Amino acid sequence: MTFPIDKRLAEVLWYPAPDVVPQLCDTLGDVPADVWNSTDDLYELADTIEPYLEKNGARKWDFIWSMERHFSEPYGPLPKARQQIMAGIPDDFLQAAGGLPAEAGNYAVGGVSDVSFARSGDVEVVAEPYQYEAGSDMPEEYRMWLSKLFFKHGECMMPYFGEAAKGHKSSFTAIDEQAMQIAPDAESRLRLENFSAEEYKHTYQFYSLYTDYDPDIPVQIYERERETFRAYEQTAMEPTWIDRGLYNMIADRFGVYQGFQWVQSSYAPLARLSLFVCKDERGHSNMGYMHVRDGIERGGEEARAYAQKRMNEYWYPQFMASFGSDESRNSKAWRKWGLKMLTNAQLRKAFHLEMVEVNKTLGLETPEEMEALDQGMEMAKAIKAKMAGMAQSA
Ligand SMILES: [Fe+2]
Ligand SMILES: [Fe+2]
Repeated sequence: MTFPIDKRLAEVLWYPAPDVVPQLCDTLGDVPADVWNSTDDLYELADTIEPYLEKNGARKWDFIWSMERHFSEPYGPLPKARQQIMAGIPDDFLQAAGGLPAEAGNYAVGGVSDVSFARSGDVEVVAEPYQYEAGSDMPEEYRMWLSKLFFKHGECMMPYFGEAAKGHKSSFTAIDEQAMQIAPDAESRLRLENFSAEEYKHTYQFYSLYTDYDPDIPVQIYERERETFRAYEQTAMEPTWIDRGLYNMIADRFGVYQGFQWVQSSYAPLARLSLFVCKDERGHSNMGYMHVRDGIERGGEEARAYAQKRMNEYWYPQFMASFGSDESRNSKAWRKWGLKMLTNAQLRKAFHLEMVEVNKTLGLETPEEMEALDQGMEMAKAIKAKMAGMAQSA
């Protein structure tokens, strides 16, 4: 018998991941090949290697989700992930939120997925999945909404590439440096470095995608984001390890949902990229999760109370609002052109259902969805007003 995944594959994939647990890598080194291959079931394997996990100070649950995240369908031959909050594509939560039918279809990483989203029916969709490539003839209105999507949802807050990037640095440099300085141990620093590397990879991937469509777009996005980044600076993340952990746990999870509905985008290059990006964003939110978990384990009840306070007063409302309003006209236009599949309400609901499960495992309460949304909308208004004031006095 052999286990469907050679353990050497896990070793090489795990180390450079943002949610690496080095103790798990050490465990893999210890487990003899015949023990590894004594079963073809992941959960049985996890039981079998328990003594090795214990010896290396690693947790069985971390082993399971780390395996599922990299090797479950559609990323590998293992059955669909059961550890949904750490490893899975968000099917279960989208189904519960009415965004996907029970039989969603199949996902193809880097290829043509035949997934059928449950679209809301309030707009007539006029573009098919994968209809347009970079060089295709496109209706003028389609071009406008596609560019708008790039500006609103792309990943380009790192320096754009090519000659024009010389002398520029990432908008995230300062907050990433700060995180390295307050990280509590070597393992956390390794994760942060791996995380940055992966975000730079996304920058490159989106840079190429934008450039193929229009070579001027990356520079324009960078300039515009330098403006909007000042809005983020107004939000003032607290310089604590737990606050930084919450940020990744929630913001990058938001990225999973945002990217996920592009699996069937009418803009084919985006559809092909999306499942890769979702897998990575899952890893970033896992990194945040582990850092929050670790912060609470080190700091006890006081740390948990602090995490709860920051969740309630800031992070949760902020990201509930980030999904956008249910009456959004932009959302309707993007759905009409097949650039988004789901309504803001469907996506937000699914995210909320997942967050309830995440928070349970941390001993945290999840704020009420609609109250948090209202609170977040108020916060966004206040920041907008402040930014307008700054622009006027400048
Ligand atoms: Fe990213
Ligand atoms: Fe990310």
